[in-house]
Amino acid sequence: MTQSEIANHKHKILFDTDPGIDDAMALLLALVSPEIEVVGVTTVFGNSHVEATTRNALNLLDLAGRPDIPVAKGADRPMVLPRGQTGEFVHGDDAMGNIGWTAVHNPDQKPLDVPAAQFIAETIMAHPGEITLVAVGPLTNVGLALQLEPRIAQAARGVVIMGGSVATPGNVSPLAEANIHNDPHAAALVFGAGWDVTMAGLDVTMAVRMDEDFFAALRRSGNRFGQFIGQIAPCYQQFHRERYGYPDGGVDTHDPSAIAYLIDPTLFRAERWSVVVPLDGPAMGATIADRRGRFWTTPKVNCLMQVDAARFLAMFQARLTA
Ligand code: RIB
Ligand code: CA
Repeated sequence: MTQSEIANHKHKILFDTDPGIDDAMALLLALVSPEIEVVGVTTVFGNSHVEATTRNALNLLDLAGRPDIPVAKGADRPMVLPRGQTGEFVHGDDAMGNIGWTAVHNPDQKPLDVPAAQFIAETIMAHPGEITLVAVGPLTNVGLALQLEPRIAQAARGVVIMGGSVATPGNVSPLAEANIHNDPHAAALVFGAGWDVTMAGLDVTMAVRMDEDFFAALRRSGNRFGQFIGQIAPCYQQFHRERYGYPDGGVDTHDPSAIAYLIDPTLFRAERWSVVVPLDGPAMGATIADRRGRFWTTPKVNCLMQVDAARFLAMFQARLTA
């Protein structure tokens, strides 16, 4: 594709996020990718409380030289349930790998006056058919936006989430993935709204491992985004070593998978199933897919089931070391 063809096919995204180490990797990948234009960032609780994830979003955009991208602060608790444990035990006290982010670095950078849900709804309605929502944290802001303005389900170009799993055990309960488990009511709204939803769940995100050699190459490169990822990775590597016994400094590649899908969907193989989210009990927050395609008639979700890990990692590394 020529540069102008890429520009015409660009995905304009709203990035809904709880940064978070892998959220930072995903945002930086998006910002260096010509296929993607980040039109706004919205923040949510998850890997930390929302004050911290908003601070991290502002600092990431400052670091990336993109303080012009608007940030809207969102929900600090799920739609219905009380908030569970936030993710500092995975992502560090500052949710950014313990690099000491305690304040917003650029005093001129402030979140918008409108809450995330309103910003999502207004942005989508102002650009019908153009905006793809990429949500890589609990789906609370998206659920609230749907309640505020149900027509976004027709007006959005699509939704790509990191969350859930079809055939892989959960990472916060035997069946549930963290983002869905953190707000199952919001997830149920998102899966039921009838828009074009792609689910990058644990089936693919745990099938791609970045390891110490990978991060060392990013650190060695002259690319300051890559160097930053190399700087925040050790905390995430330690969690994966302790929790899962991963060798060689390996980590799962959760949130970058949602961005990789937009950059190159041929990296993945997808199956379309109705997905239901139990709201309580031992399966709370699971994403149960009707894989026989005969029991449920609710909207089909594009579930990513397999990934070409080597090609994905090569693409990521090339872009973050260039
Ligand atoms: O389960 C992985 C997800 O939980 C990722 O989005 C990670 O950032 C955490 O929020
Ligand atoms: Ca996340």
